[in-house]
Amino acid sequence: MIVCHCFGVTDSALKKLIVEEGVCSATAIARRTGAGSCCGPCREEVTQLLYSLSSATHNPPEELATTDAPSSAGA
Ligand code: FES
Repeated sequence: MIVCHCFGVTDSALKKLIVEEGVCSATAIARRTGAGSCCGPCREEVTQLLYSLSSATHNPPEELATTDAPSSAGA
């Protein structure tokens, strides 16, 4: 099934990147495939695949691994 129509990226291609090659961010997927880098409606499905497959491989998506915790300094 095609996920990104702009670049013809399929769900199986995305699964291979995430599971077999360890790609763990939407930004990295966009760099590798173009998916999500044009009109954008595929980004939600790309993100959902990242979350579901990354948790299955115990490899959290980069977006989850980093937090922008507010600093208490200067508050
Ligand atoms: S459908 Fe994926 S960027 Fe347009």
